[in-house]
Amino acid sequence: MRQLNVALLGLGNVGRALVRLLQAKSAELQRSYGLGYRITGVASRRLGWLVQPAGFDIAELLNADAVGPDSDRVQDIHQWLDRVRPDAVFETTSLNPESGQPAIDYLRAVLSRGAHAISANKGTVVYGYEALTESARSAGKRFLFEATFLDSAPVFSLFRETLPGARLRSFSGIFNSTTNVIIETMEAGRGFAEGVRAAQELGITETDPSHDIDGWDATVKVCAATRVLLGVPLLPAQVSRQGIRDLQPQRLQTARAEGKPIRLVARARLEGDDLVVATVRPEVLSATDPLAGVRGTSLAVHFELDVMPGLTIISHRPNLMSTAYGLLADFLNALR
Ligand SMILES: NC(=O)c1ccc[n+]([C@@H]2O[C@H](COP(=O)([O-])OP(=O)(O)OC[C@H]3O[C@@H](n4cnc5c(N)ncnc54)[C@H](OP(=O)(O)O)[C@@H]3O)[C@@H](O)[C@H]2O)c1
Repeated sequence: MRQLNVALLGLGNVGRALVRLLQAKSAELQRSYGLGYRITGVASRRLGWLVQPAGFDIAELLNADAVGPDSDRVQDIHQWLDRVRPDAVFETTSLNPESGQPAIDYLRAVLSRGAHAISANKGTVVYGYEALTESARSAGKRFLFEATFLDSAPVFSLFRETLPGARLRSFSGIFNSTTNVIIETMEAGRGFAEGVRAAQELGITETDPSHDIDGWDATVKVCAATRVLLGVPLLPAQVSRQGIRDLQPQRLQTARAEGKPIRLVARARLEGDDLVVATVRPEVLSATDPLAGVRGTSLAVHFELDVMPGLTIISHRPNLMSTAYGLLADFLNALR
């Protein structure tokens, strides 16, 4: 059996969901892939850089207050990588929508030490995709990030593995579940603030819900997908962005009654070879639009390719385990 060292950079909601998933799948990893693992390093702002060469206890990692007392603590990522000796690092630190840092520098260090870099953090793709992909290529490792886009529906791997020679022309989608939930709450006759509360109770909002409401989350996702799938380095400031603050319940109810729901829709279209026009804004959807039936916390993306007029992927009610699965799938794909 192959025994691998893995490390967690970030141990919040997604990091802990990954620990739970690794534990739940460990017998299957052994049986189907001949793979064993131990988590030899964990790092976060609060915890610092922790090392356990023999592997952390899973129960300890799942209890935020119990992590660390018996671990070695080092000063920075370089010392940490020296001691942890990871085969793969899972990066789940918070999004920095302005620069993607410090996660990009962390992942560059990971790759240069010869470990796979696997990220759930959109910022690493929007600001670091080309550089990290190049670092991975020269290290003979992978930089993979399926969990960043549609809560792990296979989008990047779909294009990478199964659509050779196809050319993507445009995509559109519903990339943010908080805004969906707020709009649906207002369609049901309740107010905006109640919609925000409903989304918070479901645990799906960003720490600062204005990132969802004002369209930032969807904008960063459009940029990530545009970079990777359309090959154009689009930045958030280049996206025409309008959030959902000005939507009135009455207008939403009327639109829904007419069978033409209003949703926060993200779009990107290639104009010529390297110009992309991208928008994130509330749109009235016709009843036949593939996005019109996307409800609640579900997310969707619709692609138009030169060889396929329409290809839609819907992720129905994804949750933290779905996100964690994106990281695990990347890990297994990286090892292939
Ligand atoms: N939640 C989701 O459903 C979801 C889905 C897809 C992708 N994502 C992405 O996944 C990432 C993690 O999300 P989450 O919900 O797990 O967030 P979270 O609960 O806030 O956890 C973030 C973790 O990153 C650590 N961290 C932040 N900045 C750091 C830094 N500079 N150096 C080291 N550690 C740092 C935090 O440390 P402390 O706690 O010690 O401060 C915490 O452990 C984000 O980029 C998010 O956009 C989340």
